[in-house]
Amino acid sequence: MWTYEKFLEYPIKIKNPNPNMAKTIITQYGGPDGELAASLRYLSQRFTMITPQAIATLNDIGTEELAHLEMVGSIVHQLMKGASIEEIEKAGMGAYYADHGKGIYPASGSGVPFNASYIQSKGDPIVDLNEDLAAEQKARATYEYLINMADDPDVIEPLKFLREREVVHYQRFGEALRIVQERLQEPHLFVMPNKII
Ligand SMILES: [Fe+2]
Repeated sequence: MWTYEKFLEYPIKIKNPNPNMAKTIITQYGGPDGELAASLRYLSQRFTMITPQAIATLNDIGTEELAHLEMVGSIVHQLMKGASIEEIEKAGMGAYYADHGKGIYPASGSGVPFNASYIQSKGDPIVDLNEDLAAEQKARATYEYLINMADDPDVIEPLKFLREREVVHYQRFGEALRIVQERLQEPHLFVMPNKII
């Protein structure tokens, strides 16, 4: 179970609407390398991890990704909130507006709705942790591209925070992979990996 804190992991206070940025940043809400995919990936894979440390890592990071989903949703909401219809149309957000108004909908930057095929849960800890390492690097790269396109410090600072967290997650998944590999190399453990507890 979870408890909910009524504040964001990093404050978001955007003063100037910018539907152009909203259109691209939403990809970290519901796109292939976004926070919804990350949270579902880790919180699903955790069940078949084989060491308490790896289970805890997946649980911790999956939970933090939910907090990042909340942050990205807040960024998009604040960028859209004060935008005029004309600005939204000019930003190429007309089709989005027709479907969702100013609501936050999980889709990629190119408008593809969220799809569970963005993630895998293979039931094999080595496979899953390698996917997680790649996922963190893909998220880091996406945040860097978004930072490159942003010109408002109110947007750039939370994006930089999110980028830094992906680097930390990558390091933690690296530690988890090393621990799981060591466990699997113990001489008496040669049965199906997900049977080892
Ligand atoms: Fe992450």
